[in-house]
Amino acid sequence: MQKIVLATHNKDKLKEFLEVLKDLPYKFMSLYDIPDFPAVVEDGDTLEANSLKKAKELSSFTGYPALADDTGLFVDALNGAPGVFSARFAGKNCSYRDNVNKLLNALKEIPFEQRTATFKTVVTIVWPKKSTVQFWGIIEGHITTNAIWDNGFGYDPIFLPSGKTRVFSEISVEEKNSISHRGQALKQAQNWLYQQKGSGA
Ligand code: IMP
Repeated sequence: MQKIVLATHNKDKLKEFLEVLKDLPYKFMSLYDIPDFPAVVEDGDTLEANSLKKAKELSSFTGYPALADDTGLFVDALNGAPGVFSARFAGKNCSYRDNVNKLLNALKEIPFEQRTATFKTVVTIVWPKKSTVQFWGIIEGHITTNAIWDNGFGYDPIFLPSGKTRVFSEISVEEKNSISHRGQALKQAQNWLYQQKGSGA
């Protein structure tokens, strides 16, 4: 079976990837299967550039097709921050909790109606000697005033999707994928990968 490497060793992300891709006729691996793959320096100015860089480097390292995502949370009251810097908003080696607390603190004077934010994901697939494709997903919502640390990861405890009553950390992976930035991009990637089987992949 054709192998495809998923460019993540984030267990929560991997769960979301596999929930969408699991029925495709490929063998999916992740960075847990490629332990000597060196960390990619995410120094691009955009999600597109970072997502492409991860997929390209992983595909050239392994020789297999690679799928990578890059995600950012863009908060309107902070002029789009943390954006491409979402992973290290509270500094190098910070935890999810540090990032969430820093964001809550930065917004403490801002009323709920003005705490609007958007999650964006870019998924890139690099298929050696064949093609490179990108898919986008986006979801709008609000940053809540209190974190709910039930499940999920990153900013899930404080992101309330528009029209919903529960933050991302309160819903299942399936439910999150059905509306989320990453779920939308992954579903397009799933369709594209499905079509490749017909072209001899
Ligand atoms: P990455 O570079 O794509 O791993 O994403 C950057 C950062 O955004 C991560 O370290 C998380 O803090 C956050 N993030 C990415 N995706 C999500 C999500 O689906 N929910 C909440 N936070 C996320």
